[in-house]
Amino acid sequence: MTAAAQALAQRGLTPKLGIVLGSGLGALTDDLDQPVAIPYAELPGFPEIGVAGHGGQLVLGHLNGLPVAALAGRKHAYEGDPAAMKVPIRTLKALGADTLLVTNAAGSLREDVGPGRLMAITDHINMLGSSPLTGPNEDEIGPRFPSMRDAYDPQLIRVLRKAAKAEMIDLAEGVYLATAGPAFETPAEIRAFRVLGADAVGMSTVPEVILARHAGLRVVGVSAITNLAEGMGGEELSHEQTLRNAHVAARDLVRLVERFAGELDDDT
Ligand code: HPA
Repeated sequence: MTAAAQALAQRGLTPKLGIVLGSGLGALTDDLDQPVAIPYAELPGFPEIGVAGHGGQLVLGHLNGLPVAALAGRKHAYEGDPAAMKVPIRTLKALGADTLLVTNAAGSLREDVGPGRLMAITDHINMLGSSPLTGPNEDEIGPRFPSMRDAYDPQLIRVLRKAAKAEMIDLAEGVYLATAGPAFETPAEIRAFRVLGADAVGMSTVPEVILARHAGLRVVGVSAITNLAEGMGGEELSHEQTLRNAHVAARDLVRLVERFAGELDDDT
């Protein structure tokens, strides 16, 4: 067990579900019952978080009756270390979580899925040019060559669909492509990514999903669409725009995740 997991285990809450909150999506932590927030700074091995809108705390609590641990604030590959989320993800697993819900803000490559929409991630394309598993493998955590088939658990996608229907949320589905950033894409890159099969583009999530699958966590993912991708019209992209529109999508996201948590019983 990591030192962070030991420190947290003493607080007496065993999460079933871990949640990674993307840029501007931190509102979910307001909905946790009996929340206990611990700054990353108090957790050995957790990253220091800098970028505006990306807090840095682990919040334990209950969501619709389900014990959860939410990571509010992630470190991105563009900040220098693609493995920065290794300790947080492995800590969730060590605490007892068996499922990880990843969220992010993303640009849409589909005209029919505009800003404010949510997209269930069905698969990803790693264009980061890096992996958080580079270096010696920690065999006690997982295999050297983990499979990425069904990385986004088909059964959990069904639960997500059911939750969206119950909340009357028009949930899109598609492939998330991660770029290294931090510059936004060029219009030519977006055209190329469309040919590759991407439906949404962002600069995060893929490292956490690789770490989670390596550690044996089941994964489910949702993108909050904040803009149409570059070259598809609309205003010039900016982080400010991402945060503004993420707040709009966050309202639906909170309802979706709450319902999802309620549907997630021991059989799923
Ligand atoms: N590109 C990359 N990352 C993003 C975008 C985008 O269009 N929107 C939100 N995050």
